[in-house]
Amino acid sequence: MDRREFIGAGAAGAIAASGLLKPFEALAKDDGDGRLIISAPMLQNWAETSMGVAFAVSSMANGYVLVGEREDLSDARKVVCGGFRVTDANDRVMLVRLTGLKPSTRYYYRIGADRISYQGGYKMKKTGNEEDPTVYSFTTAGKGVPASFCVINDTHARMDTFGLATEKIAALAPSCVVWNGDATNVQETIESQVEIFLSPAIERKDYAANLPYIFCPGNHDCRGWAGRHLEKVMMFRQPEERASRDWDLGRNFAVRMGEVAMIGLDTAEDKLDSNPRFAGLFSSVAYREAQVEWLRDALCREEIVSAPYLVAFCHIPLFDDDPTHNPGDIAPADFDPRYTTDYALWQRTCAGLWGPLLHAAGCQLVVSAHQHKYRFLDADAEGGRCWAQIIGGSPELGLKGKHDGFAPDPTRFPTVIEGKVEAGRLNITVHNLLTGAVQDRFSFAPRPL
Ligand SMILES: [Fe+2]
Ligand SMILES: [Fe+2]
Repeated sequence: MDRREFIGAGAAGAIAASGLLKPFEALAKDDGDGRLIISAPMLQNWAETSMGVAFAVSSMANGYVLVGEREDLSDARKVVCGGFRVTDANDRVMLVRLTGLKPSTRYYYRIGADRISYQGGYKMKKTGNEEDPTVYSFTTAGKGVPASFCVINDTHARMDTFGLATEKIAALAPSCVVWNGDATNVQETIESQVEIFLSPAIERKDYAANLPYIFCPGNHDCRGWAGRHLEKVMMFRQPEERASRDWDLGRNFAVRMGEVAMIGLDTAEDKLDSNPRFAGLFSSVAYREAQVEWLRDALCREEIVSAPYLVAFCHIPLFDDDPTHNPGDIAPADFDPRYTTDYALWQRTCAGLWGPLLHAAGCQLVVSAHQHKYRFLDADAEGGRCWAQIIGGSPELGLKGKHDGFAPDPTRFPTVIEGKVEAGRLNITVHNLLTGAVQDRFSFAPRPL
């Protein structure tokens, strides 16, 4: 019996019998009684003129979003899931792409879905409809929105950690959140991905319904058979955000938020493509190289080049001053006795490819992750690196330190990294989720324009 069937036989039946249909609780696979929409919406891929909306369903459905600028949705238009020609009707996740939006503009929306009975190419019908009565809202990216972001990383499907992070983020109320990778572990099924992104077992089920998330993948996020196509749950960014040459770079982003330009890079796996553990199923080398021309062009865009602050995000660090940390280019299988791990703790290849471009552009800060240990590494402008680097914390809520290569360490705690432009400075506050205290503060001057 799979998990859905189990829920259908147990919890859903009990809740239905009680007459209490709780919103966003996972209920039965379609048995005529359960809810069709089983999650709050998640805002994905914050951008100036588009927005992704994702939500989970319990059975075959054809989802849509009603979106408009009026709170009563009297001007709303209906956008269906998927692209042109056919919709993306399916029985798990509705992915709706809102396009043609105005920058720095507030929109209101609701989600809905038709229940579909499909028995063949000429034998399909609507058997019901469900709309979430809640009107949600978002503001598109652009120069006119407050420059404030939060970053989380390495949550690794730990709901205790993720729950704490979402509560802190709600209190800080940023314009957007960057989820800087390793949200997952090794996901073999879409259902398990839904439990991480769309129906997490946390208090704040609608954590991303009114607050846009930007996803910057980590090495774990492409592991497992379902992880290889995470875009079925966490959609790729809109094609109009990049040149046709870069059609496959669906995770990179260059987004303007007030005085800040945010750049997203994907460091990919922490093991070499040649490592026999992965049987030749990864192609990080070509991927990293393809991002060079994308980055070069992104840094020249008007909305990016004119921003006083340039902040880049990537999962694996681009710099490390610890000579025992594996730089990720140790052929053929990542092992060398000089290093504490047989996988990359930082990415020397990516640093060589992207670092000079970020330096030339006057990037002040790179926010990275992956090491499960909060660190700050200052800039070295004379050495060709004008950007400082913050490495976000770990998923553990204690000093357990069971990750390979790490001993128990008091610096092991989850973080929310908050960035905000105030009085002509980019102020960074590192929140320690274990103690609830502020761990560190940093301040950056505008870059010369
Ligand atoms: Fe991690
Ligand atoms: Fe990682």
